[in-house]
Amino acid sequence: KILILDFGAQYTQLIARRIREIGVYCEVWAWDHDPAEIAKFGAKGIILSGGPESTTEFGAPKAPQEVFDSGLPILGICYGMQTLAAQLGGATEAADAREFGHAEVELVAHDALLGGLSDHDGERRLDVWMSHGDHVAQAPPGWTVTAVTDRIPVAAMALEEKRWYGVQFHPEVTHTKQGLALLRRFVVEISGCRTLWTAANIIEDQIERVREVVGQDEVILGLSGGVDSSVVAALLHKAIGSQLTCVFVDTGLLRWNEGDQVMAMFAEHMGVKVVRVNAADRYFERLAGVADPEAKRKIIGNLFVEIFDEESAKLANARWLAQGTIYPDVIESAGSKTGKAHVIKSHHNVGGLPEHMKLGLVEPLRELFKDEVRRLGVELGLPHSMVYRHPFPGPGLGVRILGEVQREYAQLLAKADHIFIDELRRADLYDKVSQAFAVFLPVKSVGVVGDARAYEWVIALRAVETIDFMTAHWAHLPHEFLGTVSNRIINELRGVSRVVYDISGKPPATIEWE
Ligand code: XMP
Repeated sequence: KILILDFGAQYTQLIARRIREIGVYCEVWAWDHDPAEIAKFGAKGIILSGGPESTTEFGAPKAPQEVFDSGLPILGICYGMQTLAAQLGGATEAADAREFGHAEVELVAHDALLGGLSDHDGERRLDVWMSHGDHVAQAPPGWTVTAVTDRIPVAAMALEEKRWYGVQFHPEVTHTKQGLALLRRFVVEISGCRTLWTAANIIEDQIERVREVVGQDEVILGLSGGVDSSVVAALLHKAIGSQLTCVFVDTGLLRWNEGDQVMAMFAEHMGVKVVRVNAADRYFERLAGVADPEAKRKIIGNLFVEIFDEESAKLANARWLAQGTIYPDVIESAGSKTGKAHVIKSHHNVGGLPEHMKLGLVEPLRELFKDEVRRLGVELGLPHSMVYRHPFPGPGLGVRILGEVQREYAQLLAKADHIFIDELRRADLYDKVSQAFAVFLPVKSVGVVGDARAYEWVIALRAVETIDFMTAHWAHLPHEFLGTVSNRIINELRGVSRVVYDISGKPPATIEWE
């Protein structure tokens, strides 16, 4: 396995995902994680990530001495290379302007990391992606400069006898064409990791671990219909069969027909024990008269915990609570003690562990990225359309009905949303957008119904393209397509006479309307 020390770059998780893709397990630790743990971890190589700081400033983050004492191969990327230079007797320099985007590096020496890679026939040149302010002005004593560009004197450097390397560019982004090849060389050839991290192996390993941990005990899982809890359900069902009981709460704020689909898939098709709680009445009652989005989120979340609590009290033998926590949640909530780079807005799903329940936690996806969870889902036999679904917020339609939530609105919205999604799938556009949904606007606009004027509701459509959901572009869906969706919604739904398309980017507009 590989250890990645995170200096706070936006791209750090991407490095980890690439390495996992190669088939090697890795973990991301904050750069100031207890260094005594490094030796215990047992990595075969260490990667130092990029970061927003400057080594030229006093108190800049450093790689701990234990990294160098470990005797392991090291790869510094961007800031990671700069700190290698600064710490080992080279020099770094602050630049007047940032370099961001495509660059061409020229390989000027042959090493195990870059030697022989090329994007241009017969020439020793690579197309790479740069994103940096500072650069290395001088490699440390004993190191060889292995690549240069016309802007910087050290684009890559190596100390082969120790298997230490640095690159200024970002091999983890796809714009660096040989990036994956470079990472593979570091991880497999230089560090000697074996590529055993595959969906099938992960499943086998987790099944064994779960069986060991829970023994003959019973386990409860809150099944939401989302990707993570669905994969946990499928995995645990395979591991412990009827010792698993899923609780599915139908809040009345889910996607169209979702309750029936979840039951059909898990209970009927797979034979998983699922308790379905039809709680729509309780939700609508509790939400009556509440217009503030945060207040709605709280009510929806609390009621979920309440119901989940009631249901689990009925399962007297349960000793464990399974959750679909995934690796990005773990990294984000751990964070760095001093790092300030990634205070990322984290959206907690509804629910949580009621304090007094005293259940142990089973989190079989804790080490996995979303793309790995999806691959596991496919391997476990879940349908592609479920595993590759767009994200759906925990509070569901509760935050897509602006202002007060009412049953009538929720029913209209679920149908409108279904029409939009259905048409996206038919037009082969569903997988081309990152998230798409309808929003209910509780405003009445004028329409003509027959010969009379009628005042009816408005539905807004939103579709975005994004990599990380932190920023997003509105999707340029074809006009004819939007026309079809609008016609269907207006024709099929009584009470809606106007459909609009949201053309705002994030920032400043968030993806959801509330
Ligand atoms: P925003 O609206 O903040 O959304 O641009 C970014 C992503 O987060 C989802 N989202 C939520 N997910 N609970 C959730 O579980 C929430 O309260 C929530 N609010 C937004 C949103 O759907 C998008 O994918």
